[in-house]
Amino acid sequence: MFFLKNIILTGDRPTGKLHLGHYVGSLKTRVEMQKESNNQLFVMIADMQALTDNAKNPEKVSSNVLEVALDYLAVGLDPTKSTLFIQSQIPELAELTMYYLNLVSVGRVRRNPTVKNEIEQKKFGGGVPTGFFIYPVSQAADITAFKANLVPVGEDQKPMLEQTQEIVQAFNHTYGNVLVEPKGVFPPKGMGRLPGIDGNGKMSKSLGNGIYISDSADVVKQKVMNMYTDPNHIHVKDPGKVEGNMVFTYLDVFGKDKEAIEKMKAHYRSGGLGDVKIKRYLIDVLEEEFAPIRIRRKELSNDPAAVMDILHKGSEEAAKTAAKTLSEVKTAMGINYFN
Ligand code: TRP
Repeated sequence: MFFLKNIILTGDRPTGKLHLGHYVGSLKTRVEMQKESNNQLFVMIADMQALTDNAKNPEKVSSNVLEVALDYLAVGLDPTKSTLFIQSQIPELAELTMYYLNLVSVGRVRRNPTVKNEIEQKKFGGGVPTGFFIYPVSQAADITAFKANLVPVGEDQKPMLEQTQEIVQAFNHTYGNVLVEPKGVFPPKGMGRLPGIDGNGKMSKSLGNGIYISDSADVVKQKVMNMYTDPNHIHVKDPGKVEGNMVFTYLDVFGKDKEAIEKMKAHYRSGGLGDVKIKRYLIDVLEEEFAPIRIRRKELSNDPAAVMDILHKGSEEAAKTAAKTLSEVKTAMGINYFN
């Protein structure tokens, strides 16, 4: 076997600031992957994809490009190691999408379970936008343009990876071996779905139950103080439930001193440990992790032009790679007429 380089591509829709669910579910993994010199990491701000269900509200998308970039840089994605870029600035991705669409049946797109769920949730008034319906094909273009072999994403993105694999197989079978079949890299057990502070399902912007990377210390404190614990744990002396108690769920994810946490759990279960105490402990744990990130984010936000410049340079670099793949694709299809 040859020792091959990993090409890793991943991205986020810029429809809001990133929260702790993004942080544990994917940002941390990316920063880890970036450390490995054998890995080449592309991180894409998927504004084109975000527009597929925000066409009438482009400002929501464009204004969040900078916010997401600030979150990326603050958590440690490093533009000298990784390529950070904006999807809409790479027209090759749209071109690839057009060719891939011919390799996917309407019935196949309709069966994508994630798209199915989203269509149900979003209740599109005037019908489902065609661009939204086919966004998994556009996502296949994002991945294959860079010949990514690894794609770290959440569980909900599994269908997109499957669809990409099928497109790669169909393309390579029909036109010759040009594209690389990617593998999804999914979060470790228990890290994939950080629940919201209300304990109602996963942390999400639409549910309003998130703690954001950009939240101030005061806001984090207030959110932790409002966290769902055990509604039957009324007096400090009462025995309390640890399972389904968001403070302990978060301590399991973010806490470093596992021994101390196990002791607190035992104490809480048998009674005598108050909610305020465990919440104060969690606030300290979160501060330790997020205070430096928050400071970096604040510094970076003082010079938005410098951040946009990072994205501009990254987009130029990404465009070169995408153009090379597109040219190979067109050659394989026999439509590279002037080359
Ligand atoms: N669909 C992804 C999400 O909502 C974002 C995305 C767009 C993406 N293109 C991608 C992720 C390519 C990985 C690879 O999170």
